[in-house]
Parts: sequence; C-alpha cells; structure tokens
Amino acid sequence: MPSSWKHALTKRLQKIAWIYLRDNFAVAAAGSCAAPEPSIPCRFVPLTLANYFRVQEFREEGRVAEYRAKIVHGEVGFFAEHDGKMVGSIWATLNTRQERRVVRMYMPLMPQEALIHDVVTAGSYRGRGVGPFMLSKLISALLGEYGASRVLVDVNVRNLASLRMMEKAGLRAPERVFYLSLFGTLAFQKSVGTKASSASVPRPGSAPADGKERAR
Ligand SMILES: CC(C)(COP(=O)(O)OP(=O)(O)OC[C@H]1O[C@@H](n2cnc3c(N)ncnc32)[C@H](O)[C@@H]1OP(=O)(O)O)[C@@H](O)C(=O)NCCC(=O)NCCS
Repeated sequence: MPSSWKHALTKRLQKIAWIYLRDNFAVAAAGSCAAPEPSIPCRFVPLTLANYFRVQEFREEGRVAEYRAKIVHGEVGFFAEHDGKMVGSIWATLNTRQERRVVRMYMPLMPQEALIHDVVTAGSYRGRGVGPFMLSKLISALLGEYGASRVLVDVNVRNLASLRMMEKAGLRAPERVFYLSLFGTLAFQKSVGTKASSASVPRPGSAPADGKERAR
C-alpha cells in the first residue's frame, strides 16, 4: 500500500479507536537537555506562512497542506536547514488555555505544558544528529520564549531510531504510558512504569539481548 494511503487510513482509524503505548520524556528546565551539534551545520528556522511549502524539499507534496493547517491552528513548528535546503522539521503544541486539554486525541496537557511531536529528518540525512539538534533547540525555545512550564516528548516504544535520538539529546528515564483513544479523545490511560536511566537503547537492527526480532 502506498505510504500516503497508509497515512490517511491510519488517521481515519485513529479518529475511531486507537491504542498508543508511549515512552514519555518530560523536561522542566532548559539545562536538563543536552545541546548536541549535528555533524552537518544546520540552521533552526521557524515555520511560518511564508515558508511552510518548503516541506516539499524533503517530504512528499501532500504534506504541504498539512503543514499549512498546523500553522493556522497555532502549532509551533521549525525546519532544520542545511546548505540552503530544508532537511527536517519538528512541531509542538502548547496548551495556552486555563484548563487541562487533550491534544492529538490522547495526550492530556496541563495549562502551559507543551507536547513535541512529528519530528522528522529527511531520509538521506538521518543518523547525523539533525533530530537531537531540532529537539534540544525546540525544548529551549518552548521553556524560554514560549513560556512553557514543562515539555513532553512522547515516543512510540517500537521506534528505536527515535529512542536513540532522545538518548543523544540527553533525555532519559521516560515514563511508559498506555493510552486508549475513542472517537477522537482520550478514554483511558495507565502508567506502566518508568524505565531505568542507565538502560541504553539498542541501535535499530541490532540483535536484542533476548535474541528475538525487534520492530522499529
Ligand atoms: C527519528 C528520527 C527523527 C531521528 O532523526 P535523526 O536526525 O536521524 O537522529 P539521529 O541522527 O540522532 O539518529 C538516531 C538514530 O537513528 C538511526 N539511524 C541512523 N541512520 C539512519 C538511517 N539512514 N535511517 C534510519 N535510521 C537511522 C541510528 O540508530 C541513530 O542512532 P545512532 O547513530 O546512535 O545509531 C528519524 O529517524 C526520522 O525522521 N524517522 C521517521 C519519523 C519518526 O519516526 N519520527 C519520530 C516521531 S517521535
């Protein structure tokens, strides 16, 4: 199935019922996150109505409308630019309301909390530290100029590349949480423990200690 169809189908199903198992990383002070430099020089560029279409430089054209809609809905977005070309992007939702709000159909945010999501690096630029660079820059911006009290980053527990990225950004000891979303909102959530900070994430594709195949 083409990936754009799969993406559209997933979005539809998520609006009906979906289970999320996430490792949630929380940062409340800018200093608790590393500031890793990527191995290629990058600029961190705010995503605005004047440049959102440049997502086409590293993602399929169908993403242009999605990026525009995110800006219109008040999401905070940035590109990573290398050598005049966009090579990655990252988004956050900040709860500016006075009350708790569920965002992305399952994640509760208290007032002034922010959730980082949709981190993506161009396929040919992966593994060069662009992801951790974007992550640490956005965490600093959210805790600084955007006035967030706490920043959450939730990672699918099967996404090893993403978990490696978190480790490189100095984010450890996530809380593992199970969420059930029904008809577009959170129906149930349960914490299933905190991972030890010393446990290192295996590289994607490397053989796990138990010898079993591990999904990305
Ligand atoms: C997760 C993601 C953003 C990481 O970005 P990145 O810029 O490659 O981050 P890093 O350079 O820190 O690489 C992280 C790990 O990805 C893995 N990786 C390296 N090269 C890779 C490649 N060409 N393709 C896939 N994964 C690769 C490596 O395990 C690397 O860690 P290591 O170098 O310590 O082994 C990127 O893999 C991506 O865009 N994935 C698809 C979207 C996604 O899953 N987003 C996460 C949502 S939270």
